[in-house]
Amino acid sequence: MAPLQVFPDPDALAEAAAELFATAVEAAVAERGRAFVALSGGSTPKRLYRRLAAKPCRKRLSWTRVQLFWGDERPVPPDHPDSNFGAARRDLLAPLGVPEANVHRIRGEEEPARAAEDYEAELRRAFGLAPGELPRFDLVLLGMGADGHTASLFPGNEPPEAGRLVAASFVATRGSRRITLTLPVLCAARRVLFLVAGADKARALRDALENPSSRLPAARVRPADGDVLWYVDRDAARDLESPPP
Ligand code: 6PG
Repeated sequence: MAPLQVFPDPDALAEAAAELFATAVEAAVAERGRAFVALSGGSTPKRLYRRLAAKPCRKRLSWTRVQLFWGDERPVPPDHPDSNFGAARRDLLAPLGVPEANVHRIRGEEEPARAAEDYEAELRRAFGLAPGELPRFDLVLLGMGADGHTASLFPGNEPPEAGRLVAASFVATRGSRRITLTLPVLCAARRVLFLVAGADKARALRDALENPSSRLPAARVRPADGDVLWYVDRDAARDLESPPP
């Protein structure tokens, strides 16, 4: 599968992403009986979540076999408009009736450092991790900001990992703290799917994909034993030297 696919518009991108999501989940369930997926925040995945919750996707997956997590969260309660969990609950979880036991949200209403600790404990429990072991997601959905951030790993602001799975840090460019999976966790995934749309992402996308020494957080997500796919729209791809045919 080509690591970069360019789609004419966000709807076509969402349709292809829904197909990849379903295929990755079906493979994980077939091989291991269940699928571990980390959802992304931001606006780009909204179309994907709505497609997954609609026919024909909604009937295709046995959602009781899917364990859902988040790549990051803002320090807000679930019903706040900025909540990544709140957005997924509205567009995906509630319409599908995903069992609560399968939903492992970051508790944005708690003090961020505490929320990070609790989420890390939940990851260790849900994956049955041994000390020092990393959770290996079957699929991690990620977006990318115009500055090249992904999840809540921002340029010049990468939280200290030091063996942590989850970090809480103050993001100066956002003027707020964020809770995020750390880079080693993202790099432990079987498959990472970046969804990137919009001309404002073009410069960062070119750097991430065409600058071998890019230090952008999005460019540093390179699973040692997994693959990274970039699904982008034509606007985001406009600065690429060599966009695929
Ligand atoms: C968040 C996301 C963040 C997002 C990018 C792209 O909490 O906002 O985790 O990393 O994916 O900022 O956001 P858009 O999809 O809205 O462009």
